[in-house]
Amino acid sequence: MKLLVTGGAGFIGSHFINHRLANHSQDSIINLDNLTYAASLVNLQQVMESPRYKFIKGDISSMALIEEVMQGVDVVVHFAAETHVDRSILDPWPFIQSNIVGTYTLLEVAKKMKVKRFHHISTDEVFGSLELQSNEKFNENTLYSPRSPYSATKAGSDHLVRAYYHTYGLPVTISNCSNNFGPAMYPEKLIPLAITSALENKKIPIHGDGKNERDWLFVEDHISAIELILEEGKIGETYLVGGLKNGVSNVDIVKKILKILKKDEDLIKFVDDRPGNDRKYDIDWSKINKQLGWEPKYNLDKALELTIEWYKKNVDWWKKIKEGEFKEYYEKQFGKSDL
Ligand SMILES: NC(=O)c1ccc[n+]([C@@H]2O[C@H](COP(=O)([O-])OP(=O)(O)OC[C@H]3O[C@@H](n4cnc5c(N)ncnc54)[C@H](O)[C@@H]3O)[C@@H](O)[C@H]2O)c1
Repeated sequence: MKLLVTGGAGFIGSHFINHRLANHSQDSIINLDNLTYAASLVNLQQVMESPRYKFIKGDISSMALIEEVMQGVDVVVHFAAETHVDRSILDPWPFIQSNIVGTYTLLEVAKKMKVKRFHHISTDEVFGSLELQSNEKFNENTLYSPRSPYSATKAGSDHLVRAYYHTYGLPVTISNCSNNFGPAMYPEKLIPLAITSALENKKIPIHGDGKNERDWLFVEDHISAIELILEEGKIGETYLVGGLKNGVSNVDIVKKILKILKKDEDLIKFVDDRPGNDRKYDIDWSKINKQLGWEPKYNLDKALELTIEWYKKNVDWWKKIKEGEFKEYYEKQFGKSDL
């Protein structure tokens, strides 16, 4: 099978490519990625020399390029997106361009080329925010209510994918997952930011009162869900993928990290809340569990330990990132004082 993976130089896409090539000896993969600040080809070193792997640097919103790249492709697995909420607040335009125009371009060409499956990776953030005290969880029937430029563009892309299924019969599947974490995640996101800052004995910024809850999903569990959906997921269906039975607050997750690293909690620094910050996400993943037999294999503590181990062993990787473009962004977001 020939797969086109978009955004395969990013965090989740690179885990998917490594896993897929290691476990499906008949598959070949084209990785199309325009190498934004969030990309890292270092994550793909193990497949770089494989004759079954090809990297193409390019933008998913370039119709001519996509028409060339999608020739002979059986399955598209679409990860490419601008992904950081804080950056979408600073400047929504790249999110509109990549997440909406880019997804439209891929769909249009996939329709023309008659690909066998188009799997779209999306987020639980499209459903908006839950009350902290509520027992409600997002499920496949929850109405969309995105509240940030990031989630609004992901919602737009989900609607487009469904429109291509209903209108043109494009064989699509969609997965909306909760916040991922794991090795090789760009250190702007909460867990890798907390780990790397703690390792450097620097302050860890937490938005607002830190009580916001997320439903954390270890990246390897996410990959196993995508694999199952590609094998057995029903065309036209959406599957929600989450990691935990109960959400955990941002401040508690940072405290867990500090405890594992044996660092003091006074490294935590509460900063102004993110405008429109979603209070809580919680996922009911019973559909994928009942229909495809998926469940997460890692508990939060074990997955955090594995993640921390990786950051301890790969200091060069994240130090290089933190010295570069990241520094400029971080200063704009949180100020210079604690760097
Ligand atoms: N990380 C999470 O917690 C999370 C949670 C839910 C859903 N998702 C979704 O999963 C997908 C992957 O997320 P991630 O965390 O790996 O993101 P990431 O930011 O680490 O990687 C995104 C990749 O897409 C590439 N890209 C961006 N715009 C592009 C364009 N126009 N053309 C080609 N390539 C482009 C980037 O260069 C980068 O390599 C995204 O669609 C995201 O919305 C992520």
